[in-house]
Amino acid sequence: MTAPATTVTVTGAGGQIGYALLFRIAAGAMLGADRAVRLRLLEIPQGLKSAEGAALELQDCAFPLLQDVEISADPRVAFDGAEIALLVGARPRTAGMERADLLAANAGIFGPQGAALNEVAAAGIRVLTVGNPANTNALIASASAPDIPADRFTALTRLDHDRAVAQLAAALDAPVGEVAGVTIWGNHSATQFPDVAHATVAGRPAPELLAERFGGGDAATAWLDGEFIPRVAQRGAEIISVRGSSSAASAANAAISHVRDEQLGTDGRRTSAAVVSTGWYGVPEGLVCSFPVTSDGDGYRVVDGLSLDARGRARLDASVAELVAERDAVRELGVI
Ligand code: NAD
Ligand code: LMR
Repeated sequence: MTAPATTVTVTGAGGQIGYALLFRIAAGAMLGADRAVRLRLLEIPQGLKSAEGAALELQDCAFPLLQDVEISADPRVAFDGAEIALLVGARPRTAGMERADLLAANAGIFGPQGAALNEVAAAGIRVLTVGNPANTNALIASASAPDIPADRFTALTRLDHDRAVAQLAAALDAPVGEVAGVTIWGNHSATQFPDVAHATVAGRPAPELLAERFGGGDAATAWLDGEFIPRVAQRGAEIISVRGSSSAASAANAAISHVRDEQLGTDGRRTSAAVVSTGWYGVPEGLVCSFPVTSDGDGYRVVDGLSLDARGRARLDASVAELVAERDAVRELGVI
């Protein structure tokens, strides 16, 4: 007997990331070559035509794993029976908008979507938030879904993780596949802390290799603080300035890797994901913060007990302070 198809809802499906995401989900890149999928696409009325166009193209691909595609502008329809939800659609910052305006606009999206998930999603629903500000949008969705356990909500920092892996590999002239144990801590923003203190490259400690490459530990630290961390943390802005719009294919790829690892397991490999803190590493309970994680195929588990030196601690604290400020701004709006 074939397994029943998995219902996957993608919001903002008519946008750039949606277009880079849907075809790979339907081809089996996210859940494996043996799991059929039913796609539910959520858009706002202005985005429906674009989503409809993608649905026509999905049909033309004749993907054997794709059972059906439905499109709706109503979250209660699009999330009905959803087992996996990718919250991609968000309100972008536009000229003259203050941070509080951006948070308020997104609260108006992620609050009702969280409430709809609470009402109509499948019991085992897992929700990945991609739309920015991703961590706080995930917090809002989770707070609006009191019957869904908080650990089912995550936000995407896998793109930052993959960027850090690529930059470290390039600096050491090593294949990306040899890099392990990188961590993104904190917010998906310029305050994030990409950390290689516990990373290895071909089994050797990255700090040791960087000291060799740059001629000493101090020079390696100067490279980390002056080049590596800003490069990774500001890569999103770099892509926007070069490409004219934000990363799409790489973001979709990271979202697929995030869900695949969450659903199928990491086989002991550490990666990074923003999850609802229960107090790990002193991060206040309830904040959606990026940590080192592994997965056994039944959700992400934070890897506890990694050491953070004073420099790392200060960077994590700065990013957590930003998350606290975002949470407090949303609280002031009365959203959570
Ligand atoms: P886009 O503007 O191309 O597409 C967004 C789509 O969302 C649009 O089609 C829009 O109609 C739709 N939408 C808006 N509000 C909606 C709602 N309430 N319900 C359903 N759909 C809605 O943008 P994009 O390039 O696809 O990026 C989407 C989001 O992902 C942005 O917020 C972007 O900043 C973010 N992003 C996050 C990461 C990350 O690593 N976390 C990386 C890249 C981009
Ligand atoms: C990215 O990291 O590429 C995006 O989050 C940037 C953005 O602001 O959309």
